[in-house]
Amino acid sequence: MRLVIDSANIESIKKLVEYFPIDGVTTNPSIVVKEQKPFLPLLKEIRAVIGEEKELFAQTIAGDAEGMGEEARWLCEAVSGNVVVKIPVTMEGIKAIKMLKAEGIRTLATTVYTPMNAYLAAKAGADYVAPYVNRIDNLTGNGAKVVAEITEIFSKHNLSCEILAASFKNVQQIHNVCLAGSHGITASPELIEALVNIPSIEDNVKAFRQDWMGQYGEGSLILSEDK
Ligand code: G3P
Repeated sequence: MRLVIDSANIESIKKLVEYFPIDGVTTNPSIVVKEQKPFLPLLKEIRAVIGEEKELFAQTIAGDAEGMGEEARWLCEAVSGNVVVKIPVTMEGIKAIKMLKAEGIRTLATTVYTPMNAYLAAKAGADYVAPYVNRIDNLTGNGAKVVAEITEIFSKHNLSCEILAASFKNVQQIHNVCLAGSHGITASPELIEALVNIPSIEDNVKAFRQDWMGQYGEGSLILSEDK
């Protein structure tokens, strides 16, 4: 199951790649703009941090399929390594996904709200779909249920497209899509850290260390023979 960082912040990406088994980085126009940096150098900087193998996702902004296609080709030319182009699931987007599939360019269908959006994108040849879990929840929908249904449709009909669930505001939503069968999640650095930053864990570790040091006087397991 994939674990992807949804951020373009270099310091956060560096830290998470060092600590966690990260598979890639997703960006979108809003995430890029937050960094206030020139676009292409920023993507290249992310690439340098994550290496050539991990997937780097960048999104098109054109409104029509031809424009999306042009931007997608440019991205794949300009950025080295494993690039996946994010295309919104509009009518034009589906057309672009179909076109890019024929050209061998890998795509992720983004802004997915319903299982039928996902079905159409997968059928058109998208490598990934990104259901927007929190945004679905905010519409009084059920993001995790949408993910569960997409999982079922893909598996029942042998659609070789993966779900990279996106748009999370809390750990519970991530937990729910993992149970629903998502093939991966992309989340903010803060949420990825929150998967393990639980005060009880730190408290337990502190108590173990204190007990140990009370007996052996040292904060290491590696002791001399007489201790
Ligand atoms: O990757 C898509 C994601 O960034 C959208 O998330 O938090 O803006 O709803 P959010």
